[in-house]
Amino acid sequence: MKKRVIAAIMAMTMAFGLAACGASKESAQNTTATQEGADTAADADAKEEIKTVTPGKLTVATSPDFAPYEFYAIGEDGTPELAGFDIALAGYIADYLGLELEIVPVDFDGVLMEVQTKSVDIGISGLSPDPKREAIMDFSELYYVGGQSFVTSVDKKDKFKNLDDTNSSNLEIGAQTGSIQVDLAKTYSSSADIIQLSKVTDIVAEIIAGKLDGAYIETPVAESYAKNYPELYIALDVPYEGAEGAAVGVSKGNEALLKGVNEAISKALADGTMDEFVATANEKASGEIHEGLLDN
Ligand code: ARG
Repeated sequence: MKKRVIAAIMAMTMAFGLAACGASKESAQNTTATQEGADTAADADAKEEIKTVTPGKLTVATSPDFAPYEFYAIGEDGTPELAGFDIALAGYIADYLGLELEIVPVDFDGVLMEVQTKSVDIGISGLSPDPKREAIMDFSELYYVGGQSFVTSVDKKDKFKNLDDTNSSNLEIGAQTGSIQVDLAKTYSSSADIIQLSKVTDIVAEIIAGKLDGAYIETPVAESYAKNYPELYIALDVPYEGAEGAAVGVSKGNEALLKGVNEAISKALADGTMDEFVATANEKASGEIHEGLLDN
């Protein structure tokens, strides 16, 4: 079963790559057509300078356990498809740079590692531009700002009235491995048993199953899963002293790529494209498409 799902995902990833290829060819043609203007020609030169892991491709690591950023939506025929505003933004950036999109789905700590080891060009994964990560990757401008929450199950909701209530030795509190939510857990729930899991979907499943008492999760993600799983309860807003918001993690030292990614982001923010991506992702993430999501 697991194998079949993986094969389907790979097929979807490939189909997505091909679709992105068509789109980038189109924009390459458009660029040629408008190259009269000196600015456009200069832009095209700058884009040509961009070096990527696989020439002609933009290789992007993401951790699709994070609706509405990136997740597997269950398509009409039951096959899982990559969806979310990060996936849409990845396609947009690839298109802007005239590159074919290649998505590499991995767990979140894998995203950090793939970018650090330069096995991919960028990571788009609801990444917080945490200063502690600056040694291993460069960060783009922010493209989205969420917030932090403490979640629990509906039947435990009265146990957590404030953050102090999360700081007790008889609690098991979850956070995704490698994420800034581990820092939040250590800050506010240091007396608790902090359980690190590699997928947010597993954290949600364990809360619902009563195995975890609660967890730290990015607010838009908590809202998205709470909509689909009414047993999940968003108990508290959590202050975060670090770098709030999501940025693209760029392979360290690739200045031309960082510049291109930033240009694409400002364009998507300025012309309303990013808003559209977010609206579409929220819509997709609130349908019955979430069925089976916890298995992935
Ligand atoms: N924003 C948090 C961080 O950067 C969590 C990101 C998790 N992303 C994901 N796709 N699971 O640490």
